Amino acid sequence: MTTLPVVMAQTPSAQTSSMETGSGSLLPVYKRFPLEIVRGEGTQLLASDGRSYLDFTSGIGVNALGYADAGIAEAARGALECGVLHTSNLFHTAPGEALADALVAKSFASKVFFCNSGAEANEGAFKFARRWARDLGGGDKREIIALRGAFHGRLFATLAATDRPQYRAPFRPLAGGISIAERDLGELSRMLDHRSVAAVIVEPVQGEGGVRVLEPAFLSGLRKLTRERNVALIFDEVQCGLGRTGWLFAYERTDVVPDVVTLAKPLAGGLPMGAILMTSEIAASVQPGDHGSTFGGGPFVATVAKHVFERLSDPALLARVREHGVWLGDQLRALAARRGEIRAVRGVGYLWGIDVTRPAGEIVANAREAGLIILTAGDYTLRLLPPLIATREELARGLEMLEGALS
Ligand SMILES: Cc1ncc(COP(=O)(O)O)c(C=O)c1O
Repeated sequence: MTTLPVVMAQTPSAQTSSMETGSGSLLPVYKRFPLEIVRGEGTQLLASDGRSYLDFTSGIGVNALGYADAGIAEAARGALECGVLHTSNLFHTAPGEALADALVAKSFASKVFFCNSGAEANEGAFKFARRWARDLGGGDKREIIALRGAFHGRLFATLAATDRPQYRAPFRPLAGGISIAERDLGELSRMLDHRSVAAVIVEPVQGEGGVRVLEPAFLSGLRKLTRERNVALIFDEVQCGLGRTGWLFAYERTDVVPDVVTLAKPLAGGLPMGAILMTSEIAASVQPGDHGSTFGGGPFVATVAKHVFERLSDPALLARVREHGVWLGDQLRALAARRGEIRAVRGVGYLWGIDVTRPAGEIVANAREAGLIILTAGDYTLRLLPPLIATREELARGLEMLEGALS
């Protein structure tokens, strides 16, 4: 284990709190790791017990540029100095407009809507797709279809589009007009023929659902079907977008151009922000008052996001993620060949899933003991999401600790 060359920013929390339960005031909806993080730098996190950890989670896909990034700090300081952390969306503010311009310039989109999270971005995308479909189909075209294994969020509409029975069951009835289909073009074709569908939403790489890279042929077949039936195709790139695959947008890995892309996690470098990118056709049907967000695209968060977006658009960074991603895949497959505990390896860029024969949580705990923080994506799948700045040496060090953690 290496040590982080920084001093602790805080003393450990009061004796009254325990690492298992914290202080007890937070709603216990998360099973938290028994660690209190007090500082970070690059790919390293320092916990209150004085140990440092190599982070292969990026705050679940958020900290693409790692921790204590000087550029993000400078952008945030500049935005603070303007004195307007927030005004309302009743005014024009330059940072949000500049960020929207940059997103439009680098993508298929002609308009952008800003919100505060991934689930919110998907909820908004559902509304915009239905609004567009209503104009086309006079109110009949309203159903949203998501795929087996999907995770799109935990708000009401996104929960209905999330294929996790244990997340859904306690909250029924879920939002109506949303169904889950198999990842099968035949079934999707039948659904599109027999139902009044407004949109199909897919993660080009399913994240929470086990890290499944959807085949380019499947995505282009789906694009063909949705075009023929006048159905909007939404790509949820909340986890796999913004450089994670080695492409700025995950759709660029394929020859498929969607009608809507949703973004969030890494967009503002750790500040809450989501975005919905859409074609001019979809945008044209959205009217003033159809949607809104008090905080969406505020000047502080947008200034930081503009900086992050420029950095993540850097062709050299993207090429490195692609190249290291290929290497990572080779190393993981070699590990699988040596170790019977691994059943399958899937992924691309800096997003990898590893199916294991033992409960994934046990391996995550072993890895943490060894100084590596990783995630699960299901009960028997490990998930690796290193910061996009992780070097080949850091990736190799993490893999060594991972191998140790398998036993
Ligand atoms: C693909 C995908 N969509 C949506 C979400 C929801 O994002 P948020 O937690 O910001 O609401 C997530 C979160 O993990 C995600 O991975």
